[in-house]
Amino acid sequence: MKSGISAWVQAIKRGDVVSDEQFDACLNAFTKRHTSTHYTPCDVALQAVQFLCAEEGRGHRILDVGSGVGKFCLMGAALMEHAHFFGIEQRNSLSTMADELADQSGLNNVSFLCGNAMNLNFKDYTGFYLYNPFYEHLEPFSAIDESIELDEDYYHIYAGFVRKQLQNMPKGTRVASYYGMGDEMPLNYDLVNQSFNNHLKCWIKR
Ligand SMILES: C[S@@+](CC[C@H](N)C(=O)[O-])C[C@H]1O[C@@H](n2cnc3c(N)ncnc32)[C@H](O)[C@@H]1O
Repeated sequence: MKSGISAWVQAIKRGDVVSDEQFDACLNAFTKRHTSTHYTPCDVALQAVQFLCAEEGRGHRILDVGSGVGKFCLMGAALMEHAHFFGIEQRNSLSTMADELADQSGLNNVSFLCGNAMNLNFKDYTGFYLYNPFYEHLEPFSAIDESIELDEDYYHIYAGFVRKQLQNMPKGTRVASYYGMGDEMPLNYDLVNQSFNNHLKCWIKR
């Protein structure tokens, strides 16, 4: 019988409802401390993934900008075996946890990179997920830890970078954003759906 993250993944593949608690049980003590505020709830991830991969016949390459311990990407990879999910995370502790979970998961369509999202070219991806990645620069008390320098200027620089990258994506590009100020979204995207008290927003490029 499979246990831990592998059991969670197999349950998703079968179409079972999985819980946040099951996922949290796979985390180490440090990363578990942030579960309720910093990692996407399973039901939100499910809906976001279904939106991002709704168009059939495309080789979806979905990027989670600030992927934390990889919860969104792992769920996506379990749900959509023909899509590939990529996560970039600046905090080494979280990215290492994500790598460990990916190794144990048995999935071969999920990859994590430790680094700054500013170093990526968004044209390498087809769809994007954003769970308020830069907010800690506006509200330092909400930060996961003190391992990175927090400064309001970074918020504007990072949000501006993401906006510019998204602005130049091809027509039809899909973005799902959860919470956030909306500052990353360019005006050439239509808001096509909102759920979870309007915190999950689904966007398509015109
Ligand atoms: C609210 S958490 C979301 C985690 C994950 N996307 C999820 O939904 O479970 C935001 C994450 O973005 C990361 N982050 C913030 N700015 C980043 C940047 N410039 N490059 C890479 N990661 C970043 C933070 O370290 C944090 O782990």
